[in-house]
Amino acid sequence: MGKVATGTNVFINPMPIVLVGVREKSKANFITVGWVTRVNTNPPMVAVSISKSHYTAELIREARTFSINVPGADMADKVDYCGLVSGKDVDKSALFDVFFGTLKTAPMISECPLCLECKLVDTLPMKTNYLFIGEIAGAFTEEKYLTDGLPDPEKINPLVLTMPDTSYRTLGKPAGKAWSDGKKLMKK
Ligand SMILES: Cc1cc2nc3c(=O)[nH]c(=O)nc-3n(C[C@H](O)[C@H](O)[C@H](O)COP(=O)(O)O)c2cc1C
Repeated sequence: MGKVATGTNVFINPMPIVLVGVREKSKANFITVGWVTRVNTNPPMVAVSISKSHYTAELIREARTFSINVPGADMADKVDYCGLVSGKDVDKSALFDVFFGTLKTAPMISECPLCLECKLVDTLPMKTNYLFIGEIAGAFTEEKYLTDGLPDPEKINPLVLTMPDTSYRTLGKPAGKAWSDGKKLMKK
């Protein structure tokens, strides 16, 4: 077979990079997160995995709402900074123009091309992390990021992370068409 064991501390590449926002008293805190995914179709839900040791974990458990902000590739420096310093020590909200949606309690970032506000519906405690599951209560973008009325990944130009090389990257070229290319293997 020619396979070699690579150890179990592996990552599935690439990981989308987002900024998770949460209310912190009268301010907001933002944290860089690579472990984020959609987890339910209807109602639309997303999950983020956040270390129990992070200030943000404490804040989400208190606030019970949070936001997921998709930064453009031009925001890499600020994104990385939010993943290096703690809201316990610095005011990360001062980095961004903050706005609120219908929930009024989930701070979002105006500079990000796509912003979701989420209601916390479940918290799964793991050994080191909490898996926070949120129902998407609102989603915000700008006209310039839309094609045919829907958010367009090429226009949003999101960041992805690859490990173990710790690189931020942008999206590559399309490699096929989903729900379509496999049809040629279906029996006639
Ligand atoms: C690229 C990158 C991805 C990260 N992904 C995660 C993640 O998925 N979950 C997590 O708990 N921390 C992640 N971190 C670490 C936190 O962003 C970092 O520890 C942050 O400073 C915690 O902030 P807080 O103390 O204000 O909550 C990541 C950091 C970077 C730079």
